[in-house]
Amino acid sequence: MSTTPDTEAIKKEISSCSLDSGDALESFRLKYLSRKGLIPELLAGIGKAAPEDRARLGKELNELKQLATTRFEEAKAELESQTGAQVTATDDPTLPPPPTAVGSTHPLSQTLAEIKSIFYRLGFTIADGPELEDDFHNFTALNFPPEHPARDMQDTFFIRKDEQNPENDLVLRTHTSPVQIRLMKEQKPPVRAIMPGRVYRNESITAKSYCLFHQVEGLYVDKNVSLADLKHTLITFAGHLFGKNLKYRIRPSFFPFTEPSLEMDIWWETGNRPGQWMEILGAGMVHPNVLKAVDVDPEVYTGFAFGMGVERITMSRYEIDDIRLLYDNDLRFLNQFP
Ligand code: DAH
Repeated sequence: MSTTPDTEAIKKEISSCSLDSGDALESFRLKYLSRKGLIPELLAGIGKAAPEDRARLGKELNELKQLATTRFEEAKAELESQTGAQVTATDDPTLPPPPTAVGSTHPLSQTLAEIKSIFYRLGFTIADGPELEDDFHNFTALNFPPEHPARDMQDTFFIRKDEQNPENDLVLRTHTSPVQIRLMKEQKPPVRAIMPGRVYRNESITAKSYCLFHQVEGLYVDKNVSLADLKHTLITFAGHLFGKNLKYRIRPSFFPFTEPSLEMDIWWETGNRPGQWMEILGAGMVHPNVLKAVDVDPEVYTGFAFGMGVERITMSRYEIDDIRLLYDNDLRFLNQFP
């Protein structure tokens, strides 16, 4: 380099050029800052300048480099905040890679994790069972009479494994209650466990119902387990999940596998919607016939059981008004649950 560069002119150029797009930014970087760009080239040429000019030139060029770097960083940040996208320089291997998109936990999994953690603290273990069940575990052992409507085609998916013998049909379990039976066949009382899992119903798909959903079953069988224990457990659980100021009610109900049976509703008021009672679970004292079906003596042991719908609870907690959103896997929806 024989003549000293006009750093003032370059300075003006750097300050005034427009950097309003990713392309403009990249051209700027290539022109001034990249390894073969103007500024590194000028810096490399300092040695060839007249000795008396070197110190001044070095200072000026360093200022120039500083100016160009700052302009570049500022324009890049501005552009990224406008577009929400990462602006990358393609040929500079020293830049850190753009951050990878980080997924989030599905809202159903978040609710399930919380339910599990509450019951864990209440001394419950976790058990599971198969989704493909037989009639005995899904219905008979749970004291469903042979003609009970739940056995009909209306809401059960039957799986035929043998054309000649339809009596051997299996079912996609319609609830998690059969896991109670499997657990008690394996483990003699005391038994205290929750059983989360997926269940299936042959229902038409709407904003309120889907062909599959999740339940968490609960079972506690021991000597002297009472209805008061059940109520205490349910109220403690709901208080943890929905907050201390929770308003709830417990109503009598009917299930073949419990006697007496009840349902728990919570008062749900969010945003500007009018408040309403919402059923969150069914429960009751385990029916003596269920204990007999697994060879537990109902004269010695008593127990309580409950079953809750995870979708329903999730939808109320996050104000989701269509159950199908939970199964679409649309990232625009899922990203709202960090
Ligand atoms: N299995 C019932 C259902 O799917 C829910 C349920 C109710 C489970 C009462 C229970 C119970 O264990 O005691 O609707």
